[in-house]
Amino acid sequence: MSDRESTLSDLLHETRVFPPPAGLAAGANVTAEAFEAAGRDRLAFWERAAERLSWAGRWERVLDWQPPFAHWFPSGKLNVAYNCLDRHVEAGHGERVALRWEGEPGDSRTITYRALCDEVCQAANLLLELGARAGERVAIYLPMIPEAVVAMLACARIGAPHTVVFGGFSAEALRTRIEDCDARVVITADGGYRRGAASPLKASVDAAVRDCPGVRHVLVVRRTGQTIDWDGSRDLWWHEQVGRQSREHTPEAFESDHPLFILYTSGTTGKPKGILHTTGGYLTLVAWTHWAVFDLKPETDVYWCTADIGWVTGHSYIVYGPLANGASSMMYEGTPDTPHKGRWWELVEKNRVSIIYTAPTAIRTCMKWGDEIPEQFDLSSLRLLGSVGEPINPEAWMWYRENIGGGRCPIVDTWWQTETGGILISPLPGVHTCKPGSASRPLPGISAEIYDDAERVLPRKDAAGYLVLTEPWPGMIRTIWGDDDRYREVYWSRFPGVYFAGDGAKWDSDGDIWLLGRVDDVMNISGHRISTIEVESSLVSHPDVAEAAVVGSPDPTTGQAIVAFVIPRGSARTDAEGERFARDLRDHVASEIGPIAKPKQILVVAELPKTRSGKIMRRLLRDVASNRELGDVTTLTDSSVMDLIKEKLPTAA
Ligand code: WTA
Repeated sequence: MSDRESTLSDLLHETRVFPPPAGLAAGANVTAEAFEAAGRDRLAFWERAAERLSWAGRWERVLDWQPPFAHWFPSGKLNVAYNCLDRHVEAGHGERVALRWEGEPGDSRTITYRALCDEVCQAANLLLELGARAGERVAIYLPMIPEAVVAMLACARIGAPHTVVFGGFSAEALRTRIEDCDARVVITADGGYRRGAASPLKASVDAAVRDCPGVRHVLVVRRTGQTIDWDGSRDLWWHEQVGRQSREHTPEAFESDHPLFILYTSGTTGKPKGILHTTGGYLTLVAWTHWAVFDLKPETDVYWCTADIGWVTGHSYIVYGPLANGASSMMYEGTPDTPHKGRWWELVEKNRVSIIYTAPTAIRTCMKWGDEIPEQFDLSSLRLLGSVGEPINPEAWMWYRENIGGGRCPIVDTWWQTETGGILISPLPGVHTCKPGSASRPLPGISAEIYDDAERVLPRKDAAGYLVLTEPWPGMIRTIWGDDDRYREVYWSRFPGVYFAGDGAKWDSDGDIWLLGRVDDVMNISGHRISTIEVESSLVSHPDVAEAAVVGSPDPTTGQAIVAFVIPRGSARTDAEGERFARDLRDHVASEIGPIAKPKQILVVAELPKTRSGKIMRRLLRDVASNRELGDVTTLTDSSVMDLIKEKLPTAA
């Protein structure tokens, strides 16, 4: 049975339902009546959502749609940082906490809206002094520290699109991103804390920018105090430079379609795609969805999104959505098991967190650690739980509900992508009945359908196929940076005229949506997108590898795990040599892409099953990879893997 078929059969047996708690429904930001009304006129709905923001100039129309390019609120003008900061201070909320930041070693900072606004103005003034200007790209490579938020908002304030690169990515990954978008300034730190130790960042920047002559300045935040190399012609300490700047900065209003950020994500080919997001539509979507899906009450809630700022979830639901809504957020630097496995729950108790937004892989890890860990903490402040990044299996959903949510908190399973900018499919906690494993309904103003292979719209009842979006939405990807053709090809050519998400999905008998995983060569490892081809090209760039094929196989904790089939150059290896070889290859992939892309299992083989036209038969390899009896590293040139592969070969082949 394929991954998708087995997911489907699990889901078909799921019948539990959890209607909205009465108290929450009565006071919900979006009630059942409001939901009904919102769905009637898509453009009018989004226009009202945009009116929740402060605009310096009104738009001419809601949407200018030149397929597949959408311009939302054309001619409208706004400043994103003003919307996230100044307007809250002006409205008298300057003393409200914007961020409660918790460092991994136990240090913490509480930052009010006024203080955050001041620091963002100072950082914006510094960027201007360094010659940055509207439209010029700035790369951000930082740990989860408040300066990451400050840096992003400072860029937004001056209209310089940022590209945040996840701190776990390698120097090489950083270099290709800096190069692709031609960033001129890089903002980084000496290092960050992970698993109780200071891990370096600046060293990767040094290696990356060596080959990027366009980079004029590297701004370095001092976080760990570790020793770093210094290039006096280029490097500047953040604390020395930001601190001396004026706190006054008048925000300039930019066109609604002005670029806000580029975020790289894996596609089905080796080269990561720079997903471009712009201003007005994006902020409208993330602000509305953050308010509606999490039922945010900015005066009383303490909201915590556990994502890293290097992923889109961090952009939309740590930075832009929550701050546009004037929310009080908690932000945590480190890993969930440092210094102990109850750290997250200790932080919830300490900060009285009321809304938590995390990923199924984290939930499954906590499940594995045991119920007795969260039991030791007072989690009664929680009132709403969220999930994102991959399909959540019903067992993890129920564990989350019972052990974290005390059996009383609704769970919003939110489906979206880097390309969608914000949540498009999710239950609204005061409206919809939640089902373990279902992302429920498209939000108002979102036109989602499921197509079959032949481009037919499936009826919204008991049907499975490909998830598509048939109308543009605000916050939609604007294009792939520098490559409009690839943008058309990747998203708009599978089914002409509609957006192809790359996910399988089904409608159940009540008309609720269940996501079934990717239908392309993109793997989802702990909620992170990694393409099989990206890992393959990294493996074949190793001098001892002749050929490689990579597949995702089901994994109880990370959702999927990377399994690589590798044909070595030269002679056959003994088992011990094979172990060493596999270790080398893993390190090689880690240094080329980053540790998240390390194959969990490496199978050394003499040949790969191919079709007559020479295409690797991945489906077969996936079946082999799902065979749980294989060891962590299986070295063979002659025996079991190939036997397994052969057994699966159709007799005709
Ligand atoms: C998957 C993360 C099922 C999906 C925000 C999508 C999900 C990819 C869900 C995007 C969910 C995300 N249920 N699958 N609730 N949320 N996905 O770009 O395959 O990192 O296409 O964005 O994650 O990953 P990305």
